[in-house]
Amino acid sequence: MSHKYDILYVPPTGTTACCQHTWVAHVDGACVGHIKMQIEANETVKFLDAWVHKNFRRQGIFRSLWDARWKYTQKKYLGYKVYAWCMPASLPLLVEKGFEEGDACTYVERIVTGDFTAYEQCFVSC
Ligand SMILES: CC(C)(COP(=O)(O)OP(=O)(O)OC[C@H]1O[C@@H](n2cnc3c(N)ncnc32)[C@H](O)[C@@H]1OP(=O)(O)O)[C@@H](O)C(=O)NCCC(=O)NCCS
Repeated sequence: MSHKYDILYVPPTGTTACCQHTWVAHVDGACVGHIKMQIEANETVKFLDAWVHKNFRRQGIFRSLWDARWKYTQKKYLGYKVYAWCMPASLPLLVEKGFEEGDACTYVERIVTGDFTAYEQCFVSC
């Protein structure tokens, strides 16, 4: 079943160095999806944080949010470079919209531990 939703634009606060614009898809006052963009140095825009609630996926919500953001970007940031880091489900739409694919990148992690054995320990007797 396809849900009827509306899109709300949330401007940056203007009170921090981070200039982030947000578009929220909502149904009956509940957020079912959002998308953001951040204005960075050197006329660069980062597209980020695309998310749609799992019960509302594959109904075109991401596409609508994307189109709303793109329309705004074209109006306000003509000539800027736009980039994004894509997950497998978001990549096809960006490729469709004319974005060029760069290298893939792999997530890695570890827990910080206190292994401070920078020098070999040896017994010294005088
Ligand atoms: C990625 C995500 C935002 C898509 O939202 P959605 O509303 O279901 O997407 P839409 O229905 O608007 O689909 C638009 C296009 O995105 C692509 N797409 C969406 N879901 C996809 C999937 N699971 N696999 C591959 N492509 C997918 C398709 O190109 C689709 O176009 P089509 O319907 O003409 O085939 C959603 O699956 C999600 O929130 N995933 C978890 C968070 C995530 O991965 N975010 C991306 C961060 S980079």
